[in-house]
Amino acid sequence: MTTALFVAHTAAPSGAELATLRLVSALRDQGRLGVAMVYTEDGPMVERMRARGVETRVLRGRFDSRAMTIGSGPLRLVTGFAGLLRLGWSLGATARELGAHVVVAESSKALVMGAVAARRARVPLVWQVHDRLARDYFGRLPTLVLRLLGRLFSRGYLANSRTTLATLPVGRRPALVAYPGVELGPDLPRRDQRPPADTVVAVVGRLSPWKGQDVLLRALAATKVRPRQVFLIGGTFFDEEPYRAELERLARDLALPVTFTGHVDDPAEYLRDTDILVHSSVLPEPFGQVVVEGMHAGCAVIASTPGGPAEIVQPGVDGLLVPGGDERQLTTALDTLIGDPALRTELATAARTRAKDFDITETAHTVATFLYDIAQRNGAAGTPHSAERAPHG
Ligand code: GLC
Repeated sequence: MTTALFVAHTAAPSGAELATLRLVSALRDQGRLGVAMVYTEDGPMVERMRARGVETRVLRGRFDSRAMTIGSGPLRLVTGFAGLLRLGWSLGATARELGAHVVVAESSKALVMGAVAARRARVPLVWQVHDRLARDYFGRLPTLVLRLLGRLFSRGYLANSRTTLATLPVGRRPALVAYPGVELGPDLPRRDQRPPADTVVAVVGRLSPWKGQDVLLRALAATKVRPRQVFLIGGTFFDEEPYRAELERLARDLALPVTFTGHVDDPAEYLRDTDILVHSSVLPEPFGQVVVEGMHAGCAVIASTPGGPAEIVQPGVDGLLVPGGDERQLTTALDTLIGDPALRTELATAARTRAKDFDITETAHTVATFLYDIAQRNGAAGTPHSAERAPHG
């Protein structure tokens, strides 16, 4: 059977890693493609991936995943880069040992390691891209470098949205939009939408300036009827503690009833009790899994444009969209929803149906075929598995 080896540079439970967990375990369950996972640091995702029955390795090196975060100095960049190359070399040995036919890089750092590993194991490299390859996110020079690396080493691209795909240097290489999906169980029971003054609002995601939680707090302070409770659900994984402190100050100054939950493994528990889920990113969101999660949980959703949410939400039908960073329009949208529980119920009901379009098993089917084709095209496909020929979309 064709085997795909997925590589992630961090095992923190942030959006890209959670999306990878869902995809890889759906692929494993389908059994059309062999899968294995390598993390290059220890962390919570390692056990979670293993618990799904996925062969998971941790490859430790002298590489600190924080060394190359956006804004680090040139020296850290160079030493960080050298560390990635070294890890890539051992990753190549692991890829051989696991009998991988294709390597899938889950981040830009994984791309660098994957480039070395794929050469060493003589298999193609696919870049699964979770971020927009754009200056406003990465900065000018890193964007240029990443585009170049993509052109040189990636034999194909998986993008988490059309928004992300539009930023990639695809050229003639195969590329597929593979929406991160939700794991659809039955619609779980949830409470009815509350009256205006009892409204519960939640935002889910890392506490990070570009996720715009501060914009939400300021917008909330100006609503006609203040919600009873605001949940800021999300951890700080990548040097984001100062932003959390800033948010705590802001919530105090504005006298808002905010609860900081920290990272929560399963936000669905909160979401079933939430009336309005807000997504407030100030940069275009590449995809925005929390938007789909909120819709699946039956919340009325307000999300930022442009970006992935505009590919998910049909405004006025199953949610509302506002321009990212625009406090006033966010206040208006909040006023509309807080003041009208019936409208919230209507949007939330349609949202539950819409969320079903993002079933991870569907995505896994198309990804399995895509990876199999790339491995085959590059002469590394392994023995075809009978089910690999099954027709599907
Ligand atoms: C990244 C993106 C987010 C996306 C996730 C999964 O965290 O910022 O928009 O939903 O990856 O692809």
